[in-house]
Amino acid sequence: MDLIMSFCTELGELFQSTNSQSEIFRRGRALLSGLALKPLFLKEIFRKYIIDDEFLKNRQLTFDPNEVTIFVDPAGHFSLRLYVWDPAKSYPVHSHGSWGIVAGVAGAIMERKFKITDKGERPDFVKLRESGRAILKPGDTTTVLPLDLGIHQMDAVVKEHASVSLHLYGKSVRRGYLECFDLQKDSVYRIMNPHLYGKVIALRALGAMGDDWTAEMLNQAAADKKPHIRYEAIRALANLDGGAAIKYLEEELAAETKPVEDFEHLCRMIKNA
Ligand SMILES: [Fe+2]
Repeated sequence: MDLIMSFCTELGELFQSTNSQSEIFRRGRALLSGLALKPLFLKEIFRKYIIDDEFLKNRQLTFDPNEVTIFVDPAGHFSLRLYVWDPAKSYPVHSHGSWGIVAGVAGAIMERKFKITDKGERPDFVKLRESGRAILKPGDTTTVLPLDLGIHQMDAVVKEHASVSLHLYGKSVRRGYLECFDLQKDSVYRIMNPHLYGKVIALRALGAMGDDWTAEMLNQAAADKKPHIRYEAIRALANLDGGAAIKYLEEELAAETKPVEDFEHLCRMIKNA
C-alpha cells in the first residue's frame, strides 16, 4: 500500500502545482508508468480478492466487470483502477466521463482511438472513424480526454494469457454509466451498474406501455435529482405524452447549470417526431 500512497501523494502535489491538462498528462504519465512497472503494489489487493470471500461479496460493483478498483480519492478528484483484458473477449468502443492516463502493466494491449464523423438526428446515431492505434506494453502510456474527445477501444494482444493495464482518471463530469459505441450499427448505448440499470429498464418499460399509471410514474421520475434518470424518464414519457416531455425539456434547457445529458438534442427529436 506504501507504493500507492506515495503515488497518491505525488499526484496530489501535481494537482496543487498546475491546472494545465498538458502538464498533468506529461507528469502524470511518468508517475503512472513508474507505478505500473512496480506491480508489487497489487500484492495486498489481490490477496484480498483471492482469499476474502466476504470482501468480494461486499465490494461495490462498477459497470466494468473486468475492473479492480484500487483507490478512489474521497474528495472525488481522481481514481486509480486496474483492468484485466481477457484475450478471448472483445471489449466495446467507449468514451469516459473524465480525462484519463493508461499504463500497461502486463501482457500487451492494443488501443484504437476513434473520432466522431457524424451525429444524426436520431439520438443513438453516431458514426466513428478510427484515428490511430498503438500497442501498450508494460510501462507504456496513453491518454484520453473526456466524453466525445476520448473515444477508444482496448483489447488484449497476447493470446496465451490476460493483459493488465493501470488507469488514472480525473474528476468525472458524469456518473453512473459508460457510453459505448457499436461500429456496425453506427450507434451509441449506455452500460450502467446493475442498480442503475434496474431503474432504467423499468422506465423504458413504462414508456412502452401506454396507461395513466405508467405516465404518472414517469412524470414523477422526470423530477429525479439525477440528470440521467430524468433523461430516461422524459425520453420514455415522450412515447405517451409528447407535450409533457417537451415541457420538462424546456425547463431543463432554461436551468442555470447544464448537465452533460443532451436534453437539447432530445427536445429537437421529439418536436420533429
Ligand atoms: Fe477506456
